[in-house]
Formats: sequence, structure tokens, C-alpha cells
Amino acid sequence: MTDFIPEDKILEIKNAADIVDVISGNVLLKKTGKNYIGLCPFHSEKTPSFTVSPQKQIFYCFGCAAGGNVFSFIMKRDGITFPEAARMLSRQYGIFIPLQKMSDAQKKHHSEREELLAVNRQAMDFFCKMLLNPDSGKQAAVYLNKRGITQNTISAFKIGYAPDGWNHVVNFFSKQKKPLGIVEKAGLIVERANKSGFYDRFRNRIIFPIFNLNAHVIGFGGRVMNDDMPKYLNSPETAVYNKSRSLYGLHLAKQKGREKEIIYVAEGYFDLLALYQNGIHNSVATLGTALTSEHVQIIRGLVGKDGSVVLVFDSDNAGIQAALRSIGIFLNAGVNARVMVLPSGYDPDSYLLEFGKASFLDVAEKARTIMSFLMEALIDKHGLSVEGKVRVVSEMRETLSSIEDRVARSLYIKDLAERLGIEETAILEKVRNASLRTKNGLSKTDQQKTFYGKWEKLEQQVIKMMLQFPPILSEIEGRNILSLFDDARLKSIGQLVLSRKDRLNVKLADLMDLIDDKDQRGIVAALALAENKWDYDACLAILTRFESLRNKDKKTLIKKIKEAEQSKDYELLAKLLNEKQKMAVLTEKKKMTLLK
Ligand code: GTP
Ligand code: MN
Repeated sequence: MTDFIPEDKILEIKNAADIVDVISGNVLLKKTGKNYIGLCPFHSEKTPSFTVSPQKQIFYCFGCAAGGNVFSFIMKRDGITFPEAARMLSRQYGIFIPLQKMSDAQKKHHSEREELLAVNRQAMDFFCKMLLNPDSGKQAAVYLNKRGITQNTISAFKIGYAPDGWNHVVNFFSKQKKPLGIVEKAGLIVERANKSGFYDRFRNRIIFPIFNLNAHVIGFGGRVMNDDMPKYLNSPETAVYNKSRSLYGLHLAKQKGREKEIIYVAEGYFDLLALYQNGIHNSVATLGTALTSEHVQIIRGLVGKDGSVVLVFDSDNAGIQAALRSIGIFLNAGVNARVMVLPSGYDPDSYLLEFGKASFLDVAEKARTIMSFLMEALIDKHGLSVEGKVRVVSEMRETLSSIEDRVARSLYIKDLAERLGIEETAILEKVRNASLRTKNGLSKTDQQKTFYGKWEKLEQQVIKMMLQFPPILSEIEGRNILSLFDDARLKSIGQLVLSRKDRLNVKLADLMDLIDDKDQRGIVAALALAENKWDYDACLAILTRFESLRNKDKKTLIKKIKEAEQSKDYELLAKLLNEKQKMAVLTEKKKMTLLK
């Protein structure tokens, strides 16, 4: 992380390393019009769709959607980081880069993160020492022992103990002459209400350091050893700790997770420790929050696109609810997920303690896909009476119609029909109805995609004009056009363009460096390359059309609400009203910004 290259050097490299020159080293490029084309080095193709623009200094492959500037090309070609790519080009073009030189703002941001991580590490060492101390750590050691945690596990996870009292951590850092402000920022101490100093956040608790993928300590969890409340206390979110991206045990799970292409996801610290202790190292635990799509992306990064996730939940209702909530996340992320259910009253920790690893793996073997789990859970809930079956179908309807893969969807429908002992066509009918309803823009289905197709096209056009015709930017800003966007990725590209100080003269190749996401870089390259001839009036016309479509959308919605009221379809009505509410919030936001 210490490899930092000054901005002016990046600029120098960019000026020197012409993209056509660099790419010509790998691809035979042919000039066509303003651009060059060749066979894409990133996917196999027979007709060239790999395009390089010398003018814009970017490349884009219309076949595989790879795109970016000269740095992105080298990064992708050699699988290296940005600084590595920059250094490689600097050598090639004879540009001397001094070691280490950061601007003050960069230094500040960079060093704050580093400092927080350092403080966390010191605190972790302190807590570990307190646990090992025969006096202060006695009770905690006894507790861990009683819960079956071995010395090995304690040192693998760097488990510690925060002694009883209000200022052990405060004193520890004071003695080190560490400014307490940064210790507070790390969430380890809390400022007293009268501002007369600080007190320790974690007191008389077993401490579990939380690590990120690179094994940096980003936060802590602490458990009481009796029935006090709260049972668990976690670090607040800080510049280095974000709950919805953190998973307990991740750094120790990564190797085996990659190997086995499976990750077990449990819900608690002790559950994770029990899994680890039983040799099931490819496990992580959420930290008292529901599984987020960010979690799933991280896990997907480990297990790969053909890997899978096994959700290990307590059999209690909370576990079932959690599985129901996460079903959409897995479907959308395209990650294969199964749910394993332990007998009532057990969590992974207590189950492993009582029945051992072999028995646990037996149950894991029987883990069902999340969809089949959902069906069973609903059948359990509603029963198999006629009325029960109707309820099951009705609760499954939404989920089924949201499955985009038609083959998968029809297989699930078949499965459900079999389980309920009813005709497939009856369910199909319901699902189709759900899709038809969603055609009104209520949830994601194929139809909805075409319905919004128009939108996407227009949104893309707006971004295109922003990238290719800067004079329109102030109009777009003034009318707050971006607030009408549905596509979050396109919207954030637009916001990025607006936020640039040099936006009237923005260089696409520079913009690329500010976009971390490679898909997004591809989008920008594609939209920038497919050139249109813009003039101001044509742009205004597009913007006006975009706005009026939004408004018409609102009028149609109101018409539909009236219809639903008349036909007394209260379910539909509720959804439509909800939709209108959302729309109103959007318009309100827009008004507010106009007033500013
Ligand atoms: P043990 O009782 O120690 O076995 O913990 P558990 O993991 O079995 O407890 P439980 O099932 O109650 O909670 C599961 C997870 O939810 C915990 O590991 C915590 O991450 C989180 N959690 C539970 N109680 C609290 C709480 O009071 N506050 C917070 N912030 N998180 C909690
Ligand atoms: Mn437990």
C-alpha cells in the first residue's frame, strides 16, 4: 500500500505513452477512420471488434466489453495493479518516478487509515496480553475453556480480554503517547459527556478482533461472560470498519474457500470458532447483521463463479427469516446457495460440541438449495390444506416471477407443483399474472426490462452526451436530470463527470483513472466511442423527452391506481401507492435541489 505515484508523474506517463503505440506491441492494429481496430487480446474472436481511439486515448472491445485507458490495458494484460502498470510504462518511456511523495490531502487520508489499523493492532495485542495475564485474564480463560475453545484457536483468532474498569485502554494508549483522538476514531474509547476525557468502550468482555481479507484488524466484537446486556458489543463503523462488508473469519477462510469452492456462512462468533476448530476452515460468520449483497460479492470472489455457499442457520425462525431475506441477493448475484438446517434448539456451536464434525457434515450434505428450502418453509408454515396451498403459491409467486433464467424458473415451478400435488399450469398462471402486474413497473421481470428498456436507452444517451458534448453539462445539472436515473451505475458515472472541476474540457483517459470498477470503465469507453453528432438543441430535445416520459409515467400510475381502487384489487393498490410514494420522494428531492 505504500507504493504511491504522484499525480504529475501519472500525467507525464499519460502524455508520453500513446495508447496506439502501447497496444500495438500486442495487437495488430489497422486504421479505420478516426480509430484503429484489431483482434481483441482479451477474448478469442475472428472478426476484429477491439477498438482504439488515439484521439480519446481509450480502448474498447465491442465483443467482450473490456475498456479503459492505457493503464487499464496494461493492468488487464498483465494482471497487475495501477501503480505497477504506471511504473512499467514509466520505465518504458524513460520517466523517472521518485519514491514516495504524496499531496497533503492524500497523506492525511492514507495515514488516517494506516493509523487506525495500527491503533487496532496495538489494542488487539493489549487485549491478548490481558487474557494471558494469570490475574486479570483468569476468569476469561476459564470461560473460553468452558466453551470448548482451545489454545490453538485462541491464538489463531487472537482472542483477547478487555479488563473490567473504565480506563485500561485509555491508560494503555496514554502511556504510549498516542493522541486519544485517533483511539476514539478507532471506536475503542468514548468521549465523556462533559468532555472531560474518555472511557473504555469494551469492559470486562471477551474480545474478538475482526480482520479484513488482508488480515488487518478493522474492528472488534466483545462478549460478556454472564447474562448482562448487550450480550455482544461491536466496534462502531469507522473509516476502516464497515459491517455490511465485514465477515468474521474471512482472512482464515480464504485459502480453503478457494480450494474447496465452498464457503459456510454462520451467524455468530462462537459458531465460526466451532467450525474452525472442527477443521471446517472454509467458514465465515456475519456480525449481527443480515447478509448483504456486498458480503455475497466478497464470498463469490473467493469461491469463484461455479462455487457455492452453505448457509448454516439455527433452526429458529430468525434463521428462516434470514434465509428468506437473502434469497434474492443470491439469485441476483448468480451464486449457488444452499441452506442447512440444524435440529431445533441447536446452533452450529452447540451442535458440533454435542455431535461432532462427521454428524455436522452429514447434515451439510443434505443442505437443500435456497429455493427448495423456501418452498419447504412455506409448506411448513401454511400446511397442505387447500387454503394452505393457495397461500404457498401466492407467497412464492413474486420470487418465482423474479427469476430471470427461464429454464431455472420452469424447473422451480415444476418442483413446486410436484410438492403441492397440483397442476403446473395453475402455478404458471399465477406467475404469469404476477409478471403481467409487474409489467406496470412493480418488480424486476423480463417484461419490466423491456418496459424500462426505453429508459435505459435514454439514460445511456444522456451519459453519452455528457461524455461527448460538455457544453450540455450545466443544463443537465440545472435540471437535475441525474435524479431521474434508474440505473445506479450510469447515474454514478454522470455524477463523476459533473463533479470534475475540468469538466468542460474533461479527458476521457483521465476519467478512467477515477473509476475503480472495470465494468463501469467499459461502459464509459463504449459510450464515449460510439460517437454521435451533438448540437445544443438536439440535446435539449432529448432531455425534455426524458423528463416528460418520467411525468407520463406518473400519469399512467395515477390512472392505474384509480382502476385498482374500482376493481378493489387491494394488493395491487398497495403496491401502486407504494410506487407513487417513491416517485413523490424523488420529485421532492428534485424540488429541494432546485430551491437551493
Ligand atoms: P453465544 O450465546 O455466545 O453462543 O452466541 P451466539 O452466537 O450463539 O448468540 P446469538 O445466536 O444470540 O447471536 C448470533 C450473533 O448475533 C452473535 O454472534 C453476534 O454477532 C450477534 N449478536 C447477538 N447478540 C447481540 C447483541 O446483543 N448485540 C449485538 N450487536 N450483536 C449481537
Ligand atoms: Mn451459540
